[in-house]
Amino acid sequence: SLKKLVVAIDGPAGAGKSTVAKLAAKALGYIYIDTGAMYRAVAWKALQQKAPVTDALILSVVKDIDVRLSYHDGVTHVFVNGEEATDYIRTPEVSRIVSQVAALGPVREKMVELQRAMAEEGGVLMDGRDIGTHVLPQADVKIFLTASIEERAQRRYREMREKGYDVELAKLQEDIAARDKADSERAISPLVQAADAVLLDTTGLSIEQVVEKILGMCR
Ligand code: CDP
Ligand code: CDP
Repeated sequence: SLKKLVVAIDGPAGAGKSTVAKLAAKALGYIYIDTGAMYRAVAWKALQQKAPVTDALILSVVKDIDVRLSYHDGVTHVFVNGEEATDYIRTPEVSRIVSQVAALGPVREKMVELQRAMAEEGGVLMDGRDIGTHVLPQADVKIFLTASIEERAQRRYREMREKGYDVELAKLQEDIAARDKADSERAISPLVQAADAVLLDTTGLSIEQVVEKILGMCR
């Protein structure tokens, strides 16, 4: 039988990582692992404390946090200490603090350990910011997915509007740019294209075209 690959997909917000990774995973019969959901889960838990979200608060929250992912029917379900948080992790509030949460060493160490354990058997597509550079440096296929900031903001805008969030395009673009900057400039495992990753600029490409390119690379 064919070797079960480990596929790493990194890139900035709105590049289409989770959308295309899900479809490619389905086509290959692989597991899809959304690492961003894990950092979002920690951020959500920190917001739940009803206190100013300082680094100290985040560190106290992460100390005894248990984050689990389970993927079925196209949805990544996220559980925090046994409680399902799936519907709460993609709010603008969480998006605004998640990069602060993800910049902290102890948070990353805990999440990376869980991520590596999930990829052990192969047959996985994992997306995030540091998968090809740090989490799975031995991945068989590494893709750095990107698109222009305007197109990424436009995509996210459409998505949030469809979900009923009253967001503004300009504000959303600012939030995404700020998050990209924070993710790219942080000291620990910043967002950067791995030297051996293939750059895939999806500006102007359809979801189907991007999925085809990824499946082609895996073949
Ligand atoms: O879906 P979107 O691109 O908006 O973000 P995400 O993939 O859900 O990731 C949310 C945030 O988590 C990112 O902006 C990063 O700050 C952090 N993250 C990270 O640091 N490392 C990862 N492997 C994945 C996400
Ligand atoms: O995970 P990431 O933040 O990289 O992006 P996403 O959460 O998959 O969001 C990308 C959005 O752009 C979704 O609403 C997709 O339907 C849309 N889109 C895409 O993913 N790829 C394209 N080539 C065109 C649009």
